[in-house]
Amino acid sequence: MNKKVLIIGGEGNGGVIASCIEDNRKKFNDIEWEVAGFINDFEIGKEINGYPVVGGTDDIDKFLKEDYFFMYAIHMIGRNVKSEEVYLKMNIPQERFAKIIHKTAFVADNAILEPGVFVMSNCYVGPATKIGMCCMMMANSIIGHNTTAGRLCHFSMGSIIGSYVEIGNVSDITMGARVLEKRKIGNYAVAGANSFITHDIPDYEIHIGNPAKFFKRVKED
Ligand SMILES: CC(C)(COP(=O)(O)OP(=O)(O)OC[C@H]1O[C@@H](n2cnc3c(N)ncnc32)[C@H](O)[C@@H]1OP(=O)(O)O)[C@@H](O)C(=O)NCCC(=O)NCCS
Repeated sequence: MNKKVLIIGGEGNGGVIASCIEDNRKKFNDIEWEVAGFINDFEIGKEINGYPVVGGTDDIDKFLKEDYFFMYAIHMIGRNVKSEEVYLKMNIPQERFAKIIHKTAFVADNAILEPGVFVMSNCYVGPATKIGMCCMMMANSIIGHNTTAGRLCHFSMGSIIGSYVEIGNVSDITMGARVLEKRKIGNYAVAGANSFITHDIPDYEIHIGNPAKFFKRVKED
């Protein structure tokens, strides 16, 4: 079955999602999803990675009337509040989000992935873990068992999250960051690249280093 997906975003996260869909189709003969194009306010009428940009975020209602599904790929590290604002503005019903999982990823049987979740190659999602709406797991990211993440979180390449971790909404575990088990990562919080998170990260804070310490707050505009 070919269900058509419009990817909301650009060549970064959006391009990765498109490449995952193509890889699943070509190498693994999984033809459930097909990339129909991109939604991007700044590139309307142009192409992203060879796909047409069919409209902007104000045009969503038009596409909702047709038989498209969506993937939300806008995620600006350190501008997490803004990323969420654009998502909320579009008000896309949950059932209209796709869920894209690369065939080499391991997702435990009893893990819950909400609509819009993206899981790239060689990821691991442990048992009894729950990943919220439109979270993105980039290649080689790992989330242990009994961990929860809210909506719109981004797990960059090679990040590792232990078990029983609680992550809020719209937070980032960036490249190579590691989070010890049973820690809490707040809403709009960021674990900086290569950080080792030994203490909780409060809402809106960016922590870096090993052991990680407060660096600054995310932009709230
Ligand atoms: C933490 C972060 C958000 C800060 O970004 P920023 O505010 O633009 O910071 P800057 O790049 O201006 O760096 C400011 C200073 O902090 C240092 N720094 C930045 N990130 C750091 C990190 N993760 N660990 C240690 N030091 C860091 C810089 O070296 C610089 O030091 P200096 O002032 O002595 O030169 C960013 O560095 C980061 O970690 N981004 C994640 C990248 C990523 O994973 N992307 C995903 C790709 S898929």
